[in-house]
Parts: sequence; structure tokens; C-alpha cells
Amino acid sequence: MKYCAKSTALLDIKSNIIVSIFEEGELSSAARKIDEISQGYLTGLLESGELTGKIGQIVVLRHLPNYNAQRIFVVGAGKKGEINEKQFKQIIESTIQAVKATKAQQIISYLSDIEIKHRDLYWNIRFSVETIEASFYQFEQFKSKKNEQHITLTEFIFSAEGEVAQQAIEDAKAVALGVKFAKDVANCPPNICHPVYLAEQAKNLAASSALMKTTVLGEKDMAELNMNAYLAVSQGSVNEAQLSIIEYRNHPNPNAKPIVLVGKGLTFDAGGISLKPAEAMDEMKYDMGGAAAVYGVMHALAELQLPLNVIGVLAGCENLPDGHAYRPGDILTTMKGLTVEVLNTDAEGRLVLCDTLTYVERFEPELVIDVATLTGACVVALGAHNSGLISTDDELAEELTQAATETTDKAWRLPLGEEYQEQLKSNFADLANIGGRWGGAITAGAFLSNFTDKYRWAHLDIAGTAWLQGANKGATGRPVPLLVQFLINQAKNK
Ligand code: BES
Ligand code: MN
Ligand code: ZN
Repeated sequence: MKYCAKSTALLDIKSNIIVSIFEEGELSSAARKIDEISQGYLTGLLESGELTGKIGQIVVLRHLPNYNAQRIFVVGAGKKGEINEKQFKQIIESTIQAVKATKAQQIISYLSDIEIKHRDLYWNIRFSVETIEASFYQFEQFKSKKNEQHITLTEFIFSAEGEVAQQAIEDAKAVALGVKFAKDVANCPPNICHPVYLAEQAKNLAASSALMKTTVLGEKDMAELNMNAYLAVSQGSVNEAQLSIIEYRNHPNPNAKPIVLVGKGLTFDAGGISLKPAEAMDEMKYDMGGAAAVYGVMHALAELQLPLNVIGVLAGCENLPDGHAYRPGDILTTMKGLTVEVLNTDAEGRLVLCDTLTYVERFEPELVIDVATLTGACVVALGAHNSGLISTDDELAEELTQAATETTDKAWRLPLGEEYQEQLKSNFADLANIGGRWGGAITAGAFLSNFTDKYRWAHLDIAGTAWLQGANKGATGRPVPLLVQFLINQAKNK
């Protein structure tokens, strides 16, 4: 879809137009003009009760008196001045659904004049483009009969002017692209999307951008580095573990310290010897959602070309039970030197991540954010709406929270403290890999924090937010919007 922003005279529109009306019969200024031109056509419909202004109500009008536009989509936009982000997205979703059902090719939208509470024109357009792009997403690679959409719409014009509108379109397109790539790789089945496949995607991405370079470490390389915790998890799988490092360098100072993003990339997590129950086990193909998000963010970066140095790390691995699999009771010596007693092989994410977090010390990071579908406990705590945020750095936590609020890709900070470390004590090693029943999302974060003393660090647990269950089962692409916004903000603050 082509998006642009330009102010357009209502009377010149020969194609299609979208205007809003509010509850209690209030017309938006564009709707009012159309009403005047057509000698009260809209007010007539309001009086008859056909137009209500209720959020998401769409009435498609044609052949209005004195007005040449092919179709007029009149959209209910709720109570004027009281619309929140969620309602606005609902308005855009219903509108685009109605537009898709017609043969409209070009459309000019006046929804950019809807006021969203606490938001400006930038966010109106940004949310619009992201929502429209998401509405076109389908994952049908493995269906022999594709659900052909027959969509004729190719050009979406916002009636708005200025650099802000343009920037909103550019940013939204990059985020949407990142979300799409994250969804594609996350939805891919685990027999196809194994660690080598993930690494191939990382290499292909770098091949398509002059600002990126990808290096892949295999198990032999990891063994030389003593990444024994990571390797232990991979032991039960015939699929080789792969650590992909995607370096994006575009900071005006090439030696500027990089921002490092680490993604948990368990392409399948059966739990290992501590096998998971059969129910919904298929969803553990999404256990690489963190890596998928980091990969998506790197795509967005290639589009936006932000003046930053960013390193995206995909920690690809598979956790299966097998004769060679690691066991409960095993003691592993991590790359950092700390020993870990395995009490549950299903707490594998932290084992893969702890060595990766040590590995990235070599980049002397400005800061490190790891993204992981780490704990079921996080889903119990926060549900599917907020990602769990844990950090040893208040300022970084604040910046991430702000990016989450800005994008509505929500995150909520959980506490961290010595008490939680005590839950990780082992009789036989420096650390146990689980911390008991209570506060499981936090003890997982606390475990990781033992490996992050060399840099500013934050952790996003996306176990509840990375995919949807039920009828709409599928990857969400979260937290790509949050992370891209964080990077946009970092670039601005430079
Ligand atoms: N990948 C899972 C976490 C998960 C569970 C994500 C459910 C999404 C939905 C992780 O590897 C895991 O199995 N964690 C265990 C940890 C436990 C053994 C301490 C869990 O959450 O049950
Ligand atoms: Mn697990
Ligand atoms: Zn896992």
C-alpha cells in the first residue's frame, strides 16, 4: 500500500473519501462540509437514526447530491474528544474492513482530524498506518488454497500536511515491516524454522542492507567459548544451536558503544527431560518470539537508518528430551564461570540467555535488552496485555516504559531484589536454575541479572504478549513497536 499525506480540497475528490461523525449527531468539519454541499444529506441520515456516530459504525454513501466522490465512508467516531488509542484503532479497523469490501482503489482519509486523548497528529497517522498494515497480514505459506483477498485498494492518502505527518508514515511503515517479519518467522512451524533457519534469515537480512553484517556461531564455536549452559540445552536435539549476531553500524561515531538486543530463540521448547504436558505444546514453536522480535527490529532499522550502532543477537536453540539430553541434577559451568544446578530442564531459556549475555560483553555495550518468552509465571502475573519488564537500571526501565506507553505495546515493570536471589540458592552449585513456585517471572529475571554486571540491562518477558491463542492463534510481532520506538527515542536524544 502506498501512503501519503497531503491536504486535499474536498470538492476536488473524485475517488473515495472517509469522514467521521461523532455521537450525539456532531459532524466532523469534513463531514459538515459534505453535508453543506449535499444540502443536508448527512443531517438527514442523522435525523432518521441511520447514522449514529457509534464507534466503528460505517455507512457507505454514493451519488450524493452535488458531490462527485465515488464513495463516502462515514465512520462513527464515538464521543468527540474522548477517544482513546484502543477506540481509535477500532475505528481504523472497521473502516479498512469496509473499504476492502468495495472496489475502491484510492482513498482520502479525513480521520487524521480525530482527536485522540493525549495524542497528536503524529500518533493519529502512526497508529492508522500500523493498524491498516496489520489488517492485511496473513500467514498462508503452508495452505494449499490461499484465501485470496482481492483487494483493489493501493493508495491511502491522509488529508494532512507537514513533516510530522510524513515522519509518522515513514516510522509506521518501518514498524509495520518489522512486525510483519517478526510474525512470519514466529508463525513458521518448528520443523522448518529450526536454529539454522533462523540464522539463515539473519544472514539474508544482512545481505540486503549495506549497514549490516551477520556472524553466526555454531556449537563448535560455542564450545570454544565455554558456553556450556547454552550447549547443554541443545544437547537433546539433532538441530544444531546457532547464535546469530547482526551488527548494524550507522552511528556518526563508528566507535560509539552499541545498543545490544538479545532474543531468546528456542525454535521449539518441549521442556526437555522435564517434559511439558501435551496440551498446547504446539505453541512452544513461539518460544523463539524474542529472537523473532529482535530480527523484526533489525528490519525496521534497515528501513529507518537511525544514526545508532545496534547489535541484534538471536540465540537459536531447541529443547527436546532425548538420550543425549541434559538432565535435572546436572551441574553446568557457564561461560562466566558461575555454576548452575539444573533442577528443571524446562527452565532452559535462562540457560541459553545467561551465556549469550556473557558473550555480548565483548561488544562493550551501551546497554543490553534481552527479549524472551521466558516464564508462564509472567503470563499469570500480567496476562496477555503487558510484557514483563525487569531492570537493574531505573533510567533504562523508565525509557522502555515510555516507549511502551507511546506505542501502546505495553510493558509493566516488576521488582527485583536480593530476596529473589535467595530463592535461587543451590546446595551443590552457585545457582539453581529455578526459584520455586512464587514470583517465577521475577526469579527468572533475577537469575539473568547475575550475568549482567558489565552493562546497563533490562529484560522483557514476552511469554504473554508474543502470540495470541484461540481462534486468532498467531504471532503478534510484539514487542517490535516498543523496541523500535525505544531506538527512535535514543536516536533523538543523542
Ligand atoms: N518457554 C517457557 C515459558 C512459557 C510458558 C512461555 C508458557 C509461554 C507460555 C519456558 O521455557 C518455561 O518452560 N518456563 C518454565 C519455567 C519453570 C520450569 C520454572 C515455566 O514457566 O513453566
Ligand atoms: Mn521451557
Ligand atoms: Zn522456553
